[in-house]
Amino acid sequence: QRRKLVVSRDLGPDTMSLLYAREDLEIVAWPEDRRCERSWLLEKIAGATGAIVMLSDKIDEEFFERAGPSLKVVSTTSVGFEQVDLHALYRRKVRLGYTPDILTDAVADASVMLALMAGRNAGEGVTLVKEGKWPNFHFAPFFFTGPQLSPTPLSPTRTAGFLGFGRIAQATLTRLTAFGLTHCIYTTNPASPPNTALEASLAARYNTGISSSLRSVRRVELDELARASDVLFVLAPGGESTHHVVNADFLRKMKKHAVLVNTSRGTLVDSDALAQALHEEWIWGAGLDVVEGEPHVGADHPLVQEPRYVQYIGWECITDHLRKLYFRRCVIIPHIGSATFETRLGMVNLAAGNALAGIDDEAMPAELDVAARIASQP
Ligand code: GLV
Ligand code: GLV
Repeated sequence: QRRKLVVSRDLGPDTMSLLYAREDLEIVAWPEDRRCERSWLLEKIAGATGAIVMLSDKIDEEFFERAGPSLKVVSTTSVGFEQVDLHALYRRKVRLGYTPDILTDAVADASVMLALMAGRNAGEGVTLVKEGKWPNFHFAPFFFTGPQLSPTPLSPTRTAGFLGFGRIAQATLTRLTAFGLTHCIYTTNPASPPNTALEASLAARYNTGISSSLRSVRRVELDELARASDVLFVLAPGGESTHHVVNADFLRKMKKHAVLVNTSRGTLVDSDALAQALHEEWIWGAGLDVVEGEPHVGADHPLVQEPRYVQYIGWECITDHLRKLYFRRCVIIPHIGSATFETRLGMVNLAAGNALAGIDDEAMPAELDVAARIASQP
């Protein structure tokens, strides 16, 4: 009898034909062009040897029970894996594949895009043109103005803050040095020691490399991160330990012209608090690729509803006559940070490679060290 590989979403013709080419495997793929139903997954996983899954599939105790002892590998088509119950997986000695590194640059690109879109009201600019309102605003000097990402004589220093400082954050920093950012501050898991080697190597790289604008890279406490960032990138893993790190308390400490970008997990940011922060102008704006409770974020969501006319900007270099401007301060895109042709092709191929290697008891191209991960969890 052929071993079974369950695939919870069509991975595209190239990768699927690579899987179907394995005649020793029965490939059972969700046939529809929408999110896989849990009942289907639970039915098909029975007796399977491997599964290629998505972030939206809950891989929990029940999943493993239904799968039974034949299951050797779960391969998620994502770098994050908080949908997987690691303890349940580890107890059953099932291996876990994921897709690190390959999406780092795409998500870093998207992070910079959102910082610019939110700061410069790009999303709302597109809407305004579609609504035929361009003539009302044409070349009013302060039409659609926002805080500048790069330094200026009025704002000679620019500090990028990173909540979490892993691969994607560092790749984002690399991009920001081209914008002339002068300071970088970051927080990491409080349980881990300060990475002085990393700081030294980053400082050396930027002091001798392509950009000399960056004057310092420092790990700071959460409080300073909130207070000192001009643009703040949320780039830490999801899960219990980072739930609502960006809450009302944090947002209240931020600069009035600060832009918040979240390209990691919606659960890190308290949506209600952020909506209040935008409404009451504690911060300038937000660019979000992820939102708590996604994908159920519709027209009635507080972050989507948030007003288009704003009375007061409150940045020190902005004077009274600029206080009524037209914009929406929250740009939301639908969790597409890694969605480039190149990166998604790479991800589905990596997920397929991980699954096949797991089924064949070979070294996986990208296997999570589950034991180490469990041990490091707070
Ligand atoms: C996307 O959010 C991923 O984890 O790959
Ligand atoms: C803008 O288009 C300018 O010419 O300043």
